[in-house]
Amino acid sequence: MKILITGGAGFIGSAVVRMAVSLGHEVVNLDALTYAGRPENVAPVEDSPLYAFEHADIRDRDTLDHIFAKHSPDAVMHLAAESHVDRSIDGPGDFVETNVTGTYNMLEAARAFWIKQGQPDNFRFHHISTDEVYGSLGESGMFTEDTPYDPRSPYSASKASSDHMVRAWHETYGLPVVLTNCSNNYGPYHFPEKLVPKVILNALSGKEIPVYGQGLNVRDWLYVEDHAEALLCVLDKGQLGRSYNIGGENERSNIDLIKTICRLLDQKRPGTAPYEDLIAFVTDRPGHDARYAIDPTRIRTELGWRPSVTVEEGLERTIDWYLENEGWWRPLLEREGVGTRLGHG
Ligand SMILES: NC(=O)c1ccc[n+]([C@@H]2O[C@H](COP(=O)([O-])OP(=O)(O)OC[C@H]3O[C@@H](n4cnc5c(N)ncnc54)[C@H](O)[C@@H]3O)[C@@H](O)[C@H]2O)c1
Repeated sequence: MKILITGGAGFIGSAVVRMAVSLGHEVVNLDALTYAGRPENVAPVEDSPLYAFEHADIRDRDTLDHIFAKHSPDAVMHLAAESHVDRSIDGPGDFVETNVTGTYNMLEAARAFWIKQGQPDNFRFHHISTDEVYGSLGESGMFTEDTPYDPRSPYSASKASSDHMVRAWHETYGLPVVLTNCSNNYGPYHFPEKLVPKVILNALSGKEIPVYGQGLNVRDWLYVEDHAEALLCVLDKGQLGRSYNIGGENERSNIDLIKTICRLLDQKRPGTAPYEDLIAFVTDRPGHDARYAIDPTRIRTELGWRPSVTVEEGLERTIDWYLENEGWWRPLLEREGVGTRLGHG
C-alpha cells in the first residue's frame, strides 16, 4: 500500500513512517519541518526505495493537490499538527491554522483526488487525534468513543474541530475515513519540551524537574511504537466512518511517572544524590485537565489490538534510547523556548 503520512518527521509520525516502511509499505512523508519536525527522525528509512519526502505545508492547498496527483496514494494518515498544549496557551493562532484549516485543506485535497480516481471504496483517510477532545475525568470513569466532546484548551479545541470535520466529510461526501483518539505517548525521538524527555534530560544535567501543581494529574501512558502499530492496524482493519480510542492501559499520576523515571535513572546512570531530590513543584497550568483514561474495549474486541509493554518497560526502553542518543537531543536543548517550557501533556 502507498501511504501519504503527514507530520512524518514528528514524534509519532516518524514512528509510523519507520514501522510502515519496515512492513513493506510505500510511504510519502509530507512535513513542513516546523520546530517539532526533524529529518533525523526518519534517518533509518530515508535511503529506502519505499520512502519519499515532500517538504510541504498543509496550510497550502495547491501544493497538497500537486502532491496527491504526483504520488497517487492508496491511503492518508494525517498526523501533522501543532501538538503542544503549553504553546497553544501562549499562541493559539498557529493551532487554528494548522489543526483546523490545515485539516480542512487535507480533506478537500483528498476528496478531490478520490473523486478523480472514481471514488474507490478502499481509499482511506485516517485522522489521528487525541483523547484530550473528551475533556477531563474525575477519579473514576473512562473515555469511550461515545463520550461527548468537551475540549478545554486551545490545542484540544482545535483537534476536536478537526475531528468533527473529518466525520462530516464522511457523512456528507462519503469520503472513506477512520479516526483514532489516543492517550499521552512517550518513547524515542520525543521532542525535549514534552514531559518524559524533559524529566530525563533535566535529571541528567542536574537541573530542577518542574512539576505542575502537586503532580496529581493522571494520564494513560502509551508507548509510541505500540501506538504506531495500533494506527496501522486501524488503517488496515478499522470500519469506515468509525473512531477508535487507543490507550496504553497504563494510568499513572504525573508524580508517580516522574518518580519512576528518577528511580530507573538512579539504576542506569547514578548521580551523587537520588534524582528525585531535583523535583520542584510549580504553579499549575491554567485549565489543567485532572485525569484522562481510555476505555480500550472497542479496539481490543473489534480489531484484536492491545499494547505490548507496561509503562515501566516502555520507560526503560525510552531512557536507554536517550542515554544512547545524545547527538539527537543535545542540539535541540539550545533552541528557543525548549529549555524553559514545562512539558506536561
Ligand atoms: N504526542 C502525544 O502524546 C499525542 C497524543 C494524542 C494525539 N496526538 C496527535 O498525534 C499527532 C502527532 O503528534 P506528535 O506528538 O508526533 O506531534 P509533533 O509535534 O512531534 O509532530 C508534528 C509534526 O507535524 C509537522 N507539522 C506541523 N505543522 C505542519 C504544517 N502546517 N504542515 C505540515 N506539517 C506540519 C511538524 O513539522 C512535525 O513533524 C498530532 O496530530 C497530535 O495531535 C499526539
